[in-house]
Amino acid sequence: MVITEGPEKMDEFFNARAETYDQHMDANVEDFQKFYRKISHPIPKTSQEIKILDLGCGTGLELEYIFQKAPRARITGVDISEKMLEILLAKYREKSQQITVVNRSYLDFDFGAGLYDYVVSVMTFHHLDYDTKKSLYERINYSLKKGGKYIEGDYVVSKAREGELLTEYNEIKKRDSLYHLDIPFCRETQEKLLRSAGFNKIQLLFSSGESAIFVGEKPKEGP
Ligand SMILES: C[S@@+](CC[C@H](N)C(=O)[O-])C[C@H]1O[C@@H](n2cnc3c(N)ncnc32)[C@H](O)[C@@H]1O
Repeated sequence: MVITEGPEKMDEFFNARAETYDQHMDANVEDFQKFYRKISHPIPKTSQEIKILDLGCGTGLELEYIFQKAPRARITGVDISEKMLEILLAKYREKSQQITVVNRSYLDFDFGAGLYDYVVSVMTFHHLDYDTKKSLYERINYSLKKGGKYIEGDYVVSKAREGELLTEYNEIKKRDSLYHLDIPFCRETQEKLLRSAGFNKIQLLFSSGESAIFVGEKPKEGP
């Protein structure tokens, strides 16, 4: 957990860093290009207008590779930081007809039911505690079409480190769920959470340093 001058509000944290965000990620995410390219791996090359929900889309780093696989994809990007969304929209101006941005928290935005072929979240859910993540995963599952996939790229830590971070977090965090505090989980916790939210065929698609990509499928049969 990195806290410099006390926790900052999530939107203020990213608004203040939006201009230099892409360079920061390039310098700090291990295997940066490989990681972001791999996010699009479960999406087959298609000219269809598939529907993708990107939660915490930020400046849209993952969209570059998603558009290479599905150039006509319809993207709904949700992000609490207005400045990050402004950069995304400027970057993908030529795709503006395909992109809808929603400037609010994914914790209280209604994703709808059975709408999306894919839901992605990249480097954004490591701020959430276990119960919040579980209910978010259930809502993601509900928003997917049957057989649709959820792709999550995020930081993971060892089980021991997860315990330490949660202890620190519980001390600091008795205020508001939207502060910027990092509490990545370990691989086992991530897989357990995805299973308990109704995903099957859970796969660890990529792992390098502290970054990992998980994929879960909404069952083709059932509710
Ligand atoms: C580290 S950035 C990741 C951005 C992009 N997905 C990427 O990988 O480059 C995290 C993003 O999640 C957004 N975010 C964090 N908490 C959020 C919330 N509760 N609702 C919506 N967006 C949130 C931040 O504003 C930020 O843009």
